[in-house]
Amino acid sequence: MRVVVTGGAGFIGAHSCRAVLEAGHAVTALDDLSHGKREALPPGADLVVMDVRSPQLADEFQRLRPDAVLHLAAQMDVRRSVADPLFDARVNVLGTIGLLEAARRAGVRRVVYAASSSAYGNSERLPKRESDPTNPLSPYAAANALTVPSTFTEASCIGSATERRTSICAARCSTASGRRR
Ligand SMILES: NC(=O)c1ccc[n+]([C@@H]2O[C@H](COP(=O)([O-])OP(=O)(O)OC[C@H]3O[C@@H](n4cnc5c(N)ncnc54)[C@H](O)[C@@H]3O)[C@@H](O)[C@H]2O)c1
Repeated sequence: MRVVVTGGAGFIGAHSCRAVLEAGHAVTALDDLSHGKREALPPGADLVVMDVRSPQLADEFQRLRPDAVLHLAAQMDVRRSVADPLFDARVNVLGTIGLLEAARRAGVRRVVYAASSSAYGNSERLPKRESDPTNPLSPYAAANALTVPSTFTEASCIGSATERRTSICAARCSTASGRRR
């Protein structure tokens, strides 16, 4: 199986590339290196330097023919999202929708992507549950509330009735920590 990991040169992405390789699969990291580092990639991972917003993304997926895409590329800076909400939305909302569309066109069977528990705001009820109401407190959080599986994102993967459907899954991650942070 071949897995494409967007944001693969970032913190969670590089760990994910390593896990995919250790599970015996082939992995290609797709990253614009705006924040990630080439050196973070484990030996054996291929790298495509590309912005997920690129119009060439669909062609790249057609070339790579991945079985699955793990979408971790994101504008991660909450303060930047407040200062420049348009940029945040371009990467985190339109970038995700564009990626889902490119994956569907390339016949990718499965897309898993990282959303964020920031979509729930500062709710004091713990543990947070998937069914909790969203209460985003920044444009970054709002993008993560918008792109969790919904009619919005699922519709992006359905296509016409004759096309193969791509299944999608989002994980609303809490803060991650660990080695090579
Ligand atoms: N780290 C956390 O605590 C945390 C918590 C919740 C959710 N998440 C989500 O997990 C995902 C990964 O987080 P991370 O901590 O590994 O972040 P990170 O910044 O280390 O990695 C993100 C990677 O995406 C790349 N990237 C950014 N914009 C891009 C673009 N337009 N095209 C291609 N590549 C681009 C960066 O170069 C970087 O390598 C993000 O979606 C983030 O919202 C992370």
